[in-house]
Amino acid sequence: MSDSAPVLTIDGPGGAGKGTISRLVAARLGWHLLDSGALYRLTALAAVKHEVPLDDEPALARIAASLDVVFLAEGESATVLLEGQDATTAIRTEQVGDAASRVAALPAVRQALLQRQRDFRKAPGLVADGRDMGTVVFTDAPLKIFLTASAEERARRRHLQLREAGVDASLSSLLKEIQARDARDMQRSVAPLKPAIDAITLDTTRLTIPEVVDRLTELLTERGLASAT
Ligand code: C5P
Repeated sequence: MSDSAPVLTIDGPGGAGKGTISRLVAARLGWHLLDSGALYRLTALAAVKHEVPLDDEPALARIAASLDVVFLAEGESATVLLEGQDATTAIRTEQVGDAASRVAALPAVRQALLQRQRDFRKAPGLVADGRDMGTVVFTDAPLKIFLTASAEERARRRHLQLREAGVDASLSSLLKEIQARDARDMQRSVAPLKPAIDAITLDTTRLTIPEVVDRLTELLTERGLASAT
């Protein structure tokens, strides 16, 4: 039964490494991957495309409910199609991230995306990356992780990532944006960003990506959710 497939939830603020870690753990286990942030980003992008104001909650919820999205592949080179067009890079800009965090604060939008997220739960398992995976969407997940890192470290990582992509951005403005988005995600009334009571918090400020992936694989093995490889 799909409902009994195990789920590893990985929640936390932007830039803590959730995306990369989730992809690597899912690939190592051969599990499915849900990038829930992409659904909020796609909703925001579709709204901008159709000129829907970012505070028109009923219209945004309709967009979220009828989102025409195809995830072409899971893993490293996942391609996302929105209304048949490649939206893989368009959803990754700072502007779309900011708009996503605004639409994500609207209860009707979150409700509209709930079942779509739960449908990703399939055998042999799911790695679910987001803000409320352990607190709202998959409350019965057998392993919940809350990944954090200092805001300064997250800004530094984002800066590096953008530089590698040939984008020039100032470190101080990135830090301000990260702090503003954290505040909005943590203070919203619906599904605020916080660890589930049964989550294990992992601070990645001083950890490398392979160290975090190994730690999560160990935890899954200890709980009998994956076999030691
Ligand atoms: O993780 P990502 O940066 O792609 O998410 C974009 C925005 O979507 C976040 O800033 C957050 O506001 C929102 N989000 C959310 N709940 C999730 C995933 C993302 O509210 N499960």
